[in-house]
This record gives sequence, structure tokens and C-alpha cells, in this order.
Amino acid sequence: MVGVTDIDLAGARALAESLRQVYTAVATRIGEDNAASPLVAKVTDHLGCPLSDVVVVEEKYRLYEHAALQTAADLYLGAHSPGAQWFGIVGGERRWESIINMLLSAMREGSRMLGRPDYGTAPIGPEATIEVVQLGLVATTAPDGTPVVVGLSNRDDYDSYSLLTVLSAGREAATAVRDEVDRLKREHDPFRGQVLSFGFSEHRDNELLTFLPRPELGAEEVVLPEGRLEAIEDHIVGIAEQADRLTEAGQHLRRGLLLYGPPGTGKTHTTRYLIGRLRDHTAVLMTGPAMGKIDYAVALARKLQPSIVVVEDVDLIAEDRSHHETSPLLFSLLDAMDGISGDVDVTFVLTTNRVEALEHALVQRPGRVDLAVEVPPPDAVARERLIRLYARNRPIAADTAKVVAATEGVTASYIKELLRRVILVALRSDAPALTDDHFDTALQAMSGDSQALTRALLGSQETPSARTHGDAKDHRAPARLQPPSC
Ligand SMILES: Nc1ncnc2c1ncn2[C@@H]1O[C@H](COP(=O)(O)OP(=O)(O)OP(=O)(O)O)[C@@H](O)[C@H]1O
Ligand SMILES: [Mg+2]
Repeated sequence: MVGVTDIDLAGARALAESLRQVYTAVATRIGEDNAASPLVAKVTDHLGCPLSDVVVVEEKYRLYEHAALQTAADLYLGAHSPGAQWFGIVGGERRWESIINMLLSAMREGSRMLGRPDYGTAPIGPEATIEVVQLGLVATTAPDGTPVVVGLSNRDDYDSYSLLTVLSAGREAATAVRDEVDRLKREHDPFRGQVLSFGFSEHRDNELLTFLPRPELGAEEVVLPEGRLEAIEDHIVGIAEQADRLTEAGQHLRRGLLLYGPPGTGKTHTTRYLIGRLRDHTAVLMTGPAMGKIDYAVALARKLQPSIVVVEDVDLIAEDRSHHETSPLLFSLLDAMDGISGDVDVTFVLTTNRVEALEHALVQRPGRVDLAVEVPPPDAVARERLIRLYARNRPIAADTAKVVAATEGVTASYIKELLRRVILVALRSDAPALTDDHFDTALQAMSGDSQALTRALLGSQETPSARTHGDAKDHRAPARLQPPSC
């Protein structure tokens, strides 16, 4: 072991001097780097501490939340530093995992220029967009007055997210700002009360939200068997109207409606009616490929309550049984439905035309669907109503009873298309009213062999069973109507 007396003092002194010089050189270099990077200097000058002492608080959001994040950041700045200007960088590489990494790289390279933030646009409604900062910083203060720098950035490559960054000399100040921005985001989310289609981009591996206009349908436009729409409405809208009182009475608000029936009978139509009725509700419509992200969709609906989540053609996900006896996707949906706590006002509407594909799963996980309603093909009364509905106030001079008789077994969407064709025939002959002849021509055109696919596409299981008007004019070659095909 070397004793104190063994040390060459002169040598030690020289070593100490060299170390001091190295230390000073490093310290100066760091100082120069700071000064050489106006970006870093702007941040550290405002925070009053070197970058190495800065506390970083980050919060990651889904990419589709960026508009809400920007809205919240703007509200925060409006309250704490009105007029504050966002800044960013000029040129060069723009892909960092975080804003602090960008600053560190600016410090190391010393050349990152201070510039304007990167802006993009994000939709906040069917026809409205806002400008969002995609990479930028802004100097402001925490609620207690401590200087902070807030950063917004997003990535939309393989790992997509939106990032809120708060830099400060103190952790408490930084977390207080993060919490406040998050609170403002929840409170002023531009998605609240909107109709959103929740899709999925396989290419980018992220969720895509599209805004849709809210459907405007009157109850008279939804033709269902007597009392059925009222029963649905009573359950879904009735609970929404009494939400507060039901919660006080210890009752849960979540409801699950299953609409089942053949194609083209009005399941989607009924869903659209409900969305129109629940004007203040956020509607989240799931489309096929997004089903794998049902958890996010349900989380969104929960956050933006009161809300309605619509999962169309749920039998399609019931079929995906790659490894399990029952589809894991279907169980994810049922679990997500069950995960909604009692005081959260979320309605689930599922539609299917193959209810038997769901029964097993629904029985295994009871309590998710509390109202199952059949939406059948229209009976005679309903067909008469549909004819009048889709004539759209055009006078009808025809014997509608005959048309009703001739269209037994067809779907509502078939009648809708029939009326479109009848009106077209009438328009061509400049007739003010719809006559037997017009109906006869359109019915014959839709019921021939060559129209089998058209009928199938309109969801009709059967073709019209008889000719409507045997007294059709002779000059019109009567096409033979086919008997019901199934
Ligand atoms: N019961 C109905 N009342 C009034 N119009 C209807 C009705 N059913 C269907 N229609 C009309 O036909 C169109 C297609 O019907 P819809 O999309 O609701 O069928 P669906 O039951 O959802 O079929 P699918 O099982 O194929 O999804 C509707 O947009 C609407 O215009
Ligand atoms: Mg449908």
C-alpha cells in the first residue's frame, strides 16, 4: 500500500493542476454549447437552471388525442401567460423520442437553431379543424408562478403517440402543470358530444378517428313493428333522461342493446335514430378492423360520457376463433362492456344478422346485453308505411294495397329502392302523382331473374310474390314475376 510520505508531491500537484484544467475546459465547453445553441439557452434562461438540473415530466397520449391536448395547452397558456409564443427548431433531424432528447442533442451539437414550431392540422368536428403544434415549446409559468417550459410533440411512425412535456427546475411545479393541462383536456375535449367513427390504419398501426355529422331522423322515419321503437327508446333514452336520479338511487346507467334481424331491415337505421335522439351524447362507431382496439374505444367513450358505443355486425368478430372456442375479440368487447362502472353513462348498441353466432358468448357472459330486440322484415302495415315514407310527400294515386301484397317478404331497404325507381319512372313521364303504372314498371324491373343479385344486395330474402297490377298496359311487355325464392 502506498503511504502519504511515498507520494511525489510535485507530481501530485502537477496532476491536480491538469485535472483542474480538464474540469475548467469541460465546464467552459458546456457553457459554450449552451450559448451556441440558442434553443437550449432560451429554455435554460427561462427556467433559471442548466439543462442538467431540469426536471422533465411527460405524459403520453394516443395520437388522436392531439387536438384535445392542443386545446388544453391553449387554454392553459391563455390563463397563465396570454400571448406566449411557441418556438421550435430550424431544419435538420426532427425525430426524437422526447423533447428533452432534442434539447440534449442541441446542447451536444451546439448548432440547433431556434426557429418556429412545426404546425399541422387536426379535425375537431365534421367540418372543423384546428392548428396543432407537432413539435414546439413555449415558456410559461406553473400555477404557483415557477417558470416552466411546455412542449408538444407527436410521432406517427411505428410507435405513434402525442407527448406533453413539462420542463422546470422543480418537480412539483412541473407535475402541477401536467395535471392542470390533463384536467383541461378532459373538461374541454373537442371530441365530447361528437359522432366519431373509430377506425384503424393497419398501414400505420394506429387508430383513426373520423368525425361524422349527427344523423337527423324523426321517429316516423323508422318503421318497426308497433311499439318496438318506443320500447328501445324508453330503455336507452329513458335512462339517459333520469341518469342523475338513477345514480342517486344506486342504479347503474350502463345499458346494452342488441338489435338482430335480417339484412336491410333497419338495425343501422335504428342506431342512427338513437344517435340523433341523444344529441348531447358522444357516439363512438366501431368499424371492423378497429375491433382489436375496442379497449381504447371504450376508454374514449367512458372519458367522454354520456356516450353511446355502436358495434355493427358483431357476428363478424364472433367468427374470429383463431385459438379459442369463442372469439377473443368478442370476449374483449364483452369484458370492456362489463368494465364500465355503474355511475358511467355509456350505452352499447350491438347489431347482428346472425344472432345465433353470439348466443353462446352472451349466455356465458350475462349482464352485458339488457335488451335484445328483433328487427324483422316489414309486415303489411309496415310496408304500407314505408311506401308512403319513401314517396316523400309525392302524391300517390296508385292502389298501395296491391303493392303491399306484391312485396311480401321483402326488406325495408327493398321498398326504399322500389320507391326511388317508381319516382324515377314518374319523373320521366312528368307525372305529378305516382300511379299503378309507375309501380308496375318499377316492380317488374326489380323482380326479374336478372335482378336476383340486386335483390340480394338490398337484403331481400324473397322476391315479390305476385304481379301488382295485372291490368298493366298491353304495350308494356309484362315481365313474369318470380315466386319467392326462399
Ligand atoms: N325499418 C326501417 N324503416 C325505415 N327505413 C328503413 C328501415 N330499414 C331499412 N330502411 C332503409 O334502408 C336502409 C338500409 O337499412 P339498414 O342499413 O338499417 O339495414 P340493416 O338492418 O342495418 O342491414 P345489415 O344487417 O345489412 O347491416 C336504411 O338506411 C333506411 O334508409
Ligand atoms: Mg347494418
